[in-house]
Amino acid sequence: MNALRIKAMAFAILLIAATIYVVMSLNIDITGDFINAMTMGGAIAIAVITAAVTTKYLHQMKTDIPAGKLADENWDGIGEYENELPSGWAYMYVATFIYAMWYGFIGYPTNAYSQIGEYNEEVLAYNKKFESIHKNADAATLLKMGKSTYLVQCAPCHGNTGDGLSGRAQDFTGRMSKEQILDVINNGSNQLGYPMGMMPPGMASGKDAEDIAIYIAGGMKGEKPVMFAACASCHGEDGKGMGGMAPNLAQYDETLMTLVLEKGKKGLIGTMPSFKDRLTPVQQKAMTVYIQSLSN
Ligand code: HEC
Ligand code: HEC
Repeated sequence: MNALRIKAMAFAILLIAATIYVVMSLNIDITGDFINAMTMGGAIAIAVITAAVTTKYLHQMKTDIPAGKLADENWDGIGEYENELPSGWAYMYVATFIYAMWYGFIGYPTNAYSQIGEYNEEVLAYNKKFESIHKNADAATLLKMGKSTYLVQCAPCHGNTGDGLSGRAQDFTGRMSKEQILDVINNGSNQLGYPMGMMPPGMASGKDAEDIAIYIAGGMKGEKPVMFAACASCHGEDGKGMGGMAPNLAQYDETLMTLVLEKGKKGLIGTMPSFKDRLTPVQQKAMTVYIQSLSN
């Protein structure tokens, strides 16, 4: 065995020893974990291959006698042999080209395969799992879930306490303000997708509208204005929306929540973005429970 081989072996052993040292000092479990064991095997293989390849070429540099034909080009005395392109390289070039074409025109645009597609599929699978785990979640779990989702998704606009940040978004400590209700009475509303369809403008006017708005904004307590009859035909005598046919004016209920989160909403205050596909049905239900807790 010549000196070069011995040096190469020493180098490989040093690399392996250093790898083992790092793994031990980080307390990584090699024997019990399949992936860690594979990674360790790979690191050792890389150390051995690096040493072997380096030795081969160092040896070749020392002992090779030039053979073959020099190309005509010459750069300050440094020439180049006329070698054939190694066939492995050529095959790899063609394969890379084919893959790039497939990925650029089919794989990525149609999600036949892409990291984004794979990510989306994983999210769907996790959402499904989440939905089945929490299918029958109790009220306390939903409240906790709703609170944490709220703090991430809704608090930036609606405020940590749900007060709507001084009129920048809906104030959840009540239902709707007098101004908001008057705005709907005057301009109608057609955006949420209730089975009843749209609410036409001008269902009441003047003092009647004012009285009705004060009554609803006050939580529908006290004496009901006679003209509320104009609203009751769609929203129900109690204002609760007749089982989801029209919005519940008394409370943030599940129907309103689902529709607002699906479609977003534009009103007197501003624009509420749609959360379509960003919250699962269980999370939407949790939002209802949490927002009801804010308004109680
Ligand atoms: C013809 C049926 C109908 C009548 C009558 C009616 N509404 Fe409505 N109202 C609706 C529907 C449907 C919606 C939901 C519209 C939408 O999708 O944006 C609605 C929405 C509202 C909203 C907005 C709720 C929200 O959360 O965005 C308020 C407030 C409201 N109505 C108040 C009233 C008042 C006050 C009256 C009586 C003066 C009245 N409505 C009469 C059908 C009606
Ligand atoms: C980008 C700001 C923004 C974010 C984020 C946001 N909202 Fe809103 N939201 C608004 C605004 C503005 C309104 C008032 C719309 C109007 O003028 O009627 C509103 C209104 C609402 C309403 C009242 C709808 C009605 O008809 O009474 C509900 C319920 C609601 N948001 C729930 C949520 C929930 C739940 C989240 C988090 C998942 C959320 N919002 C996130 C801005 C936002």
